[in-house]
Amino acid sequence: MPYVLVLYYSCHGAVSELARYLARGINAVEGIEARMRTAAPVSATCEQVDPSVPETGNPYVTLEDLQHCAGLALGSPSYFGNIASPLKYFLEQTTPLWASGALSGKPATVFTSSSSLHGGQESLLLSMMQPLFHHGMILMGTPYTEPDLATTTTGGTPYGVSHYAGPDNIHPVSPEEKNLCLATGRRLAELALRLDRKG
Ligand SMILES: Cc1cc2nc3c(=O)[nH]c(=O)nc-3n(C[C@H](O)[C@H](O)[C@H](O)COP(=O)(O)O)c2cc1C
Repeated sequence: MPYVLVLYYSCHGAVSELARYLARGINAVEGIEARMRTAAPVSATCEQVDPSVPETGNPYVTLEDLQHCAGLALGSPSYFGNIASPLKYFLEQTTPLWASGALSGKPATVFTSSSSLHGGQESLLLSMMQPLFHHGMILMGTPYTEPDLATTTTGGTPYGVSHYAGPDNIHPVSPEEKNLCLATGRRLAELALRLDRKG
């Protein structure tokens, strides 16, 4: 069964909740499924080694997970308007896949959460696209044909789905944010299936 890799880093749970809704959208499409993976944390010191399987949550991603996916949803919290280190660290280990062109022609989308509404969601989403363009992936956003994109007063951007978490992540995922996740997951899965069949 082809799969869409939902790869994310989440420290406090907001991005992982978006990931679950995206996966639900992906799983609504017949013939393809979501595979959820998280980036392993990085340490300021090198001597500590985490167990290779996290105690809770989804397994840590491997290069093989990425290599064999039919599509990718990549999620990170906004850290100063940029990608969280654990995810960036993983991406910097993907040069063998870049060299072999393993991801070229596959569809991808990006998603995020931030504590403030204008706390760098769009800059982060755009910066997450850059390494994916280098890999030759086909970036997919969220179109305004999704009515929630025009009416949301929380997260949601045409560059990728997002969540406005508020200070201390107090805001739950809003109905509009949830709908946009489900629709984007479905759209990505359908595109991945179409491109996979051509390949
Ligand atoms: C190092 C660091 C930097 C952050 N920078 C921003 C920021 O620039 N803008 C913002 O709105 N939130 C910022 N935040 C808050 C997180 O983006 C926000 O809490 C997010 O919802 C966390 O997602 P998570 O629950 O999946 O970990 C930052 C948090 C940390 C720890």
